[in-house]
Amino acid sequence: MLFLAEIAPNLWTAAQSRRFLGLEVGCRMIVVRLPNDDLVLISPLPLKSGDRARLEALGNVAHLIAPNRFHHLHFGPAQALYPKAQAWGVEGLSQKRPDLRFDHTLDQPGHFENVLHYLPLKGFASITPRGIQNLNESVFWHQPSQTLILTDIAFNFDETFPFTSRLAAQVLGSYQTLRPTRLEKWGSFDKDAVEQSIRQVLHWDFDRVIPGHGSIVESDAKAELQAGYEWLLGRSLDPHPTLAALYNTAR
Ligand SMILES: [Fe+2]
Repeated sequence: MLFLAEIAPNLWTAAQSRRFLGLEVGCRMIVVRLPNDDLVLISPLPLKSGDRARLEALGNVAHLIAPNRFHHLHFGPAQALYPKAQAWGVEGLSQKRPDLRFDHTLDQPGHFENVLHYLPLKGFASITPRGIQNLNESVFWHQPSQTLILTDIAFNFDETFPFTSRLAAQVLGSYQTLRPTRLEKWGSFDKDAVEQSIRQVLHWDFDRVIPGHGSIVESDAKAELQAGYEWLLGRSLDPHPTLAALYNTAR
């Protein structure tokens, strides 16, 4: 049975063990309760009867979201449990998983009840065992708790992970810091598109970041994410460049 941890009012997470390329990376589901008591499940995990009872005590499971082209493994079973829930996918996922039903595609910015905002990111890709693949990830901003919800566009593996995972994170550049790995740094060729998307994300007001894999960053997460993307892009993301920075660029 999953343990639903309350992160902030109307925001819960549940984590499960997950192995990727033989490494423990964990996986997180996010539950948001909207003002109308509808629940939004981002990256649904397998749900046993006890989990369903807990969820249904919180609200009405009304939306199921596969937030990128990789996080769809447990979507079908969740949909079978909640056939009336609206199913949200991302661009390209219905072609990848034609067996799943999607009612909506996250291809434009939008929001649920003005409290959970979403934004599809452009240009973000990763080197995978099947080659370079676009994630088409949508990120979410829970405005009341100033929380940014990510899936695979930044990680934060720390000392709570097994030795081999920590070692891999060190090699790939995302150990004890909130940022993507070298697989995304090298796989994302359209840096201008990534920059444009990340600047939009940084425009949101948030202090906490919940990644799909890795530990939650509870405070000052925006500065950490900005630094992580400056590392990926190799350029500054400061909203207002100082005169000194302009001077240095001009030299
Ligand atoms: Fe993932």
